[in-house]
Amino acid sequence: MASSYCCSRLLLQSQSSRLMLRFSPFLATPPTPSSLSFSSNCHVSSSAQATLQQQHEQQPLPQSSQLVALEYADLNLSYNLDLGHVRIRQHVNPLSSSFSVPAQVPDWNHAFADPTLPLMVDIGCGSGRFLMWLAKRTPKERNFLGLEIRERIVKRAESWAKDLALDNILFLFANATISFKQLVESYPGPLVLVSVLCPDPHFKKKHHKRRVLQKPLVGAIVDNLMPGGQVFIQSDVIEMALDMRNQFDEVKTLKHIEVLDPAMLCDSEGWLLSNPMAIRTEREIHAEHEGAKIYRRLYQKQM
Ligand SMILES: C[S@@+](CC[C@H](N)C(=O)[O-])C[C@H]1O[C@@H](n2cnc3c(N)ncnc32)[C@H](O)[C@@H]1O
Repeated sequence: MASSYCCSRLLLQSQSSRLMLRFSPFLATPPTPSSLSFSSNCHVSSSAQATLQQQHEQQPLPQSSQLVALEYADLNLSYNLDLGHVRIRQHVNPLSSSFSVPAQVPDWNHAFADPTLPLMVDIGCGSGRFLMWLAKRTPKERNFLGLEIRERIVKRAESWAKDLALDNILFLFANATISFKQLVESYPGPLVLVSVLCPDPHFKKKHHKRRVLQKPLVGAIVDNLMPGGQVFIQSDVIEMALDMRNQFDEVKTLKHIEVLDPAMLCDSEGWLLSNPMAIRTEREIHAEHEGAKIYRRLYQKQM
């Protein structure tokens, strides 16, 4: 799944970050430091450029979509689904009237084999593969709800979940900004984890109101989370990560996990050094493949 902000960030990428791409951990044989020489503005000598070029030609980088398929290989999904003729749109405007109607609350008894299990909600779940991977690993322990505003990919996710015979996952076509509260308030079990992972950044100031995480949604997450429950946020766009961080840092009942568990290591600016979920999202894989840093925070609600 490519996104337009991926393209704009790529355009802005400096020569140094283009080089990072070639140092990707996915490279079978990374270049040795001695084969390169950097000056302060990351100029690369022509012989180093030639070496890199040669290595690149010998071992072309895997496409990031192949890396995504690799990450979720365990799921063994079919990619020949008939989704009709309507193409999957890259973006929608969540403020348009067609997305202003709250999603219908499902019959939870019908949605999950056991609707009293602890619930994880992934806001803006995209293709849903990240959530399916988690659902497959914790049957009978946890239910998973993916909220996504693009209807076509919800249909594909539903079809995949059906193929996998998962009875602990539900995908809903929903504008999470307006539907989350009603949905989780009606859920019979406890809400234990909410994730907002690589949300669309909507860079222009006049479009910030299109961002999924608005104040009422933050309130609904915090109010409905059980004590000890967690909120996981991440983005490869620092501006977006800071926007989410500022909103959750303000909440008195939430503590960032490093305060509670010193084993969760952060960098000097308080971003988690690694992904605590044991699986990456698609956007995360694409971004890391481009050499981007992922900014993560994990909050826990006070007991
Ligand atoms: C950049 S993608 C990230 C998808 C996934 N979380 C990942 O990390 O790969 C952002 C997703 O959020 C969805 N989205 C945007 N606004 C939304 C909203 N108001 N409600 C639900 N989903 C939304 C988009 O359609 C898109 O699939």
